[in-house]
Amino acid sequence: MRNGFASVALLCALPTGGSTRRSLITSAGRRAQARSPFTPFRRDLPRIPELLPVRRTSTADVYDVQIQQGLAEVLPGFETPIYGYEGVYPGPTIRARTGRESIVRQHNTLTFESNVHLHGGFVPAGHDGHPMDVIPAGGSFEYHYPNLQDAATLWYHDHAHGRTSRTLYHGLMAMYVLEDDLERELELPTGEYDVPLVIADHSFNRDGSFRYLENVDLGFRGDTLLVNGAVSPRMRVDRRKYRFRLLNGSNSRSYTLRLGRGRKMLQIAGDGGLLTRPVVRRRVPFHPAERLDLVIDFRDYAPGTELVLHNEDGEAGTVAIMRFDVGRGGGSEDFRVPRRMRPREPLPEPVADRRWELGFGFGAWQINGKDFDHARMDARPSHGTTERWTFANRSNRVHPMHIHGFLFRVLWRSSGPVHPGERLGWKDTIGVLPNERVTVQAWFAPYAGKYVFHCHALEHADKAMMLQLEVMT
Ligand code: C2O
Ligand code: CU
Ligand code: CU
Repeated sequence: MRNGFASVALLCALPTGGSTRRSLITSAGRRAQARSPFTPFRRDLPRIPELLPVRRTSTADVYDVQIQQGLAEVLPGFETPIYGYEGVYPGPTIRARTGRESIVRQHNTLTFESNVHLHGGFVPAGHDGHPMDVIPAGGSFEYHYPNLQDAATLWYHDHAHGRTSRTLYHGLMAMYVLEDDLERELELPTGEYDVPLVIADHSFNRDGSFRYLENVDLGFRGDTLLVNGAVSPRMRVDRRKYRFRLLNGSNSRSYTLRLGRGRKMLQIAGDGGLLTRPVVRRRVPFHPAERLDLVIDFRDYAPGTELVLHNEDGEAGTVAIMRFDVGRGGGSEDFRVPRRMRPREPLPEPVADRRWELGFGFGAWQINGKDFDHARMDARPSHGTTERWTFANRSNRVHPMHIHGFLFRVLWRSSGPVHPGERLGWKDTIGVLPNERVTVQAWFAPYAGKYVFHCHALEHADKAMMLQLEVMT
């Protein structure tokens, strides 16, 4: 069972509690009503709850999380069965500080194995959530996250091999916001003006449950967009600057983001944290698992303005992402985003070049003609060095390539210049477009050990577009 499909069957036994049965007996009237929940901008943007530590020591914050089934009210009047951290979708956000350790005790109450990967984190290999390193049903694991890296918008999610397309789709994902002093000095918007947004496409069955249709080639495509678990919501905003932390939480869908008809958004950070300077963006490609921190200044708009964040690549229900309704408050703010946000660290010269061919063969997605095999080691970089890795896409699908445990810089795209929004900061995931070649410079520090790299289109990763690397000391 190389791909672990044996356990997928368990997922068909999704929670069907008595409470969901109510919506199964949908009357004609209720059916008519059922169409309305898909109308965009009906619901206010849900704020994602934050997880509170159960204990604080002088050096660490300790959290307890139940990986469990739950019911989410995604469509008003319906209950959608989910898997969730603490039973909610998206899971509760962890806010951590650089230099203070987070200890997250994960309790797997599901009937199948699970594990937790901190995506974008510098984490020792034993705590990374390697796909073969799982928490059995009923078991627990205490993940230690040192948080010895710059402020960044990270996220955590399930990574048990072979079924992440189903477990993430059903809710096992959450934000992990890391803050540091350097960022604090910039006085960027905080508190209620610092807003995580988890964007994902879904489809629904008549009873309100998430519908999942497997498509290994294209990856899953839903017909409805959810932000923080609500269908294309609206958000009332003050006339001031906001920081939005966007996560593409879709299984396989890429977006092109556009505000109104191309209004200004200021990108301040990417996967690995702040850029060296802010970058104006009017159209932003956004691939699965990428993060994007945008500052939007609503002082540019009159009270009463309704501004829609669009997906230019969408169709019907996947065009409108959300709407900002500009109110009256907040007009006296005079804060500006500083021109210089973070110094660019010098990097050692690359000591190796590696090339990874991305393609389809023998019924599976492959890298260099191989599918995932945890008994084989595919690359052994030396600790503390940098290497040039080229991903060469030999297919007409997008492959968002991701390396665990390490960050990289984007050096080159065969399709044209690398946008400053990608060039001026660290990344951990990069969209490799159809037939494109992309070269990155990866830095194999601070930890050594065994990790994976893979396509983050989850249907591709599950079957079985993932290899292993071991950083050697
Ligand atoms: Cu989001 Cu293997 O990671
Ligand atoms: Cu990762
Ligand atoms: Cu892929």
